[in-house]
Amino acid sequence: MSGDPERVGHREAPILVFEDVVKRYGSILALDGVRFHVNRGEVVCLIGPSGSGKSTLLRCANALEAVDGGRVVFEGIDLADRRTNLVQVRQRIGMVFQHFELFPHMTALHNVTAGLTTVRKVPRPEAEERGLALLRKVGLADKARKHPAELSGGQQQRVAIARALAMEPDVMLFDEPTSALDPETIGEVLTVMKRLADEGMTMVVVTHEMDFARRVADWVVVFDRARVLEQGPPAQIFDQPRVARTREFLSHLGWHADADEPGNGRAGRLGVREREIP
Ligand SMILES: Nc1ncnc2c1ncn2[C@@H]1O[C@H](COP(=O)(O)OP(=O)(O)OP(=O)(O)O)[C@@H](O)[C@H]1O
Ligand SMILES: [Mg+2]
Repeated sequence: MSGDPERVGHREAPILVFEDVVKRYGSILALDGVRFHVNRGEVVCLIGPSGSGKSTLLRCANALEAVDGGRVVFEGIDLADRRTNLVQVRQRIGMVFQHFELFPHMTALHNVTAGLTTVRKVPRPEAEERGLALLRKVGLADKARKHPAELSGGQQQRVAIARALAMEPDVMLFDEPTSALDPETIGEVLTVMKRLADEGMTMVVVTHEMDFARRVADWVVVFDRARVLEQGPPAQIFDQPRVARTREFLSHLGWHADADEPGNGRAGRLGVREREIP
C-alpha cells in the first residue's frame, strides 16, 4: 500500500514499485537507490536535469534493462525473478518515445494494428476496427491511410500513442514525448495525454513541459544525479519545493515557484490547443 491517503489509488497495491533501484553502466552510476511508487490511475511525472537517470528508470520499468540492485515490482511481480515472463510483462506496459519510432513503410492504421494482428493474433477486420477507433480517439481518423512521412511530428506521435494503446496496457510510459516536436504541435500531443489521464490511464511521464506536469500530474518525482531529490504532489514541487536544487532546476526552465499563476514559465500550451482536436 502507498500509505499516503492523499494519493490517487492509494487503497490498492501500487502498480509499479521502485525499491532502492541501482543501475550502473560500467563506472557510471545511472540510478543510485531510487525509491518511489506509482498507484493505479495516477499520472506520475519525472522531471530533472539531463543525465539524471529518468530514461534509465523507464527502461528498468519495462525490463529493457536489468537492475544491478534493489527491485522493480510491476503488479506484484518482481521483474528480476527468473520465473517472470518479461515478454508478457512488456505487453502490459505501453511505451512512447521521443522519436515516435513508427514503421515508415506502414500506414498510420497499419502501425496501430501490427501488434494486434501479429502478437495478439486478432483477425485483421477486427484489428482495423479497433485501430480506426484509436486513431479517432487521438484525432487522426482522417489520416489512417497516410504514411509517417506524410504526417507532422505531432501527428506521428499521436499515432505512436494509439499504437501503444492498441495493446490495452495497464500503464503507459512516456519518455519526453514532445521534446522532438515543433512548438505548434506540442499542444495537440499534450491534449491527447491529458485526455488519457482524465480517463484514468496510469501514466509515468518524463517531461520538460512543466505546465503539463503542474496541471496533470498527481505526483512528481524530481531526479538529480541518479537519485530522487524530492517527490510530492505538484503543488509542493512547483510552489513550495523543499529542496533548494529543485527550485534551481525549475528556475532554469523559467518556472518561478513564487509567481501567482500556474504555468507562469510556459505558454500554457495545454489550454490553448485543446480545441484543435475534434
Ligand atoms: N546505454 C548506456 N550506456 C552507458 N551510459 C549510459 C547509457 N544510458 C544512459 N547512460 C548514462 O546514464 C546516466 C543517466 O542517463 P539517462 O539517459 O537515464 O538520463 P536522463 O535523465 O534521461 O537525461 P536526458 O534528460 O538527457 O534524457 C547518464 O550519465 C548517461 O550518460
Ligand atoms: Mg532521457
